[in-house]
Formats: sequence, C-alpha cells, structure tokens
Amino acid sequence: MAQGNIFLVGMMGAGKTTLGRALAQRLQLEFVDTDRVLVERTGVPVATIFEFEGEEGFRRRECAVITELAARDGLVVATGGGAVLSEDNRRVMRDHGTVVYLRARLESLWERTRHDSSRPLLATPDPRAKLAELLDHRDPLYRDAAHIVVDTGAQSAASVVGKVIAALREGVRGDAA
Ligand code: S3P
Repeated sequence: MAQGNIFLVGMMGAGKTTLGRALAQRLQLEFVDTDRVLVERTGVPVATIFEFEGEEGFRRRECAVITELAARDGLVVATGGGAVLSEDNRRVMRDHGTVVYLRARLESLWERTRHDSSRPLLATPDPRAKLAELLDHRDPLYRDAAHIVVDTGAQSAASVVGKVIAALREGVRGDAA
C-alpha cells in the first residue's frame, strides 16, 4: 500500500467526498475534504468566497490547504474539482502520496450536480454546457495528476471503493486505458 496520503481528484459530482469518506473508513485513515476546511476556516460557504475574492482568491486558499495537508501523512483527501488547475497542486499531490482520479461521464456528473446550487461555477444559464466544458478542459489535467484512474458511474460506492483499494494495493493504473 502507498505511503503518504491518498488524494482524490475529479470533477464536481464524481463522488470524491462520499467515496473518500468510505475509503478512509475502510483503510482506517483520517478523511479531510479541502472545501470543508475552507468553509470552516472562513466561516462562509464556498460560493461566498467566490463572491468576495473571486475564483482566484478561492484557488489561492485551496492551494495553501493542499500544501498544508500534503505535509501530513495517512490522510484521504477529497480535493475540489478545480484543484488540478494548478501545476503546483498537481506536483505537490503526486510528491506526497497517491493521486486517484475518480472519472465519470458527463451524464452522471450532470445527474449528480443538477439539483445542487452550492457550486458557483455552475451558477450559469446553461450549467450542463459549463460542466461539459470543464470536463473537456480538465480531463487531461486529472490524468496528468493521477497515479490511478478509477471509473465511477452507476456502481455502488462500496464497489468503487473496492476498486480503488485493489488498485492501491497492486500499484496499477486502475481503469486507465
Ligand atoms: C470546484 C469544485 C467544488 C468547489 C468549488 C470549485 C471546481 O468542489 O471546490 O465550487 O472548480 O470544480 P467539488 O468538486 O467538491 O464540488
């Protein structure tokens, strides 16, 4: 099994938080969600951070939290969907553990985000098109950051967690083509 932390990356709606919590429980590791850390520290929702500080301000805070968590050990970290936009974040995560890309198709991402108004980047007239655009742009970055790629989809959380654990144990690339 890998040393260091396990960083989960992937799009909004890929299930990073749900699967991360389940994975941490199975591996008896501590679970941390970077968005949640930011909300606790600032005392306001993610959307409010975007409103007052812009996406740039949010990314700066996100980067600081990822760097701080990377210095720890034995964590399962669910990152925000845009964490991989920063080359520094991608490098820091790869250098301090195993990065797992939870990959999902646009349709399931849309199903899981369409009724949720907490994500500022999807507060647009056409959130589905925005999600598609983000997926197109970010998929190569998730692949670049990841040691392991695991498809999430219609399968149960337990089954995806099982796949992640198997890939971590074997040190293989999971569902990567
Ligand atoms: C974002 C994803 C969100 C949150 C913020 C920005 C993104 O996290 O960090 O709204 O850029 O994709 P989740 O991926 O947990 O929804």
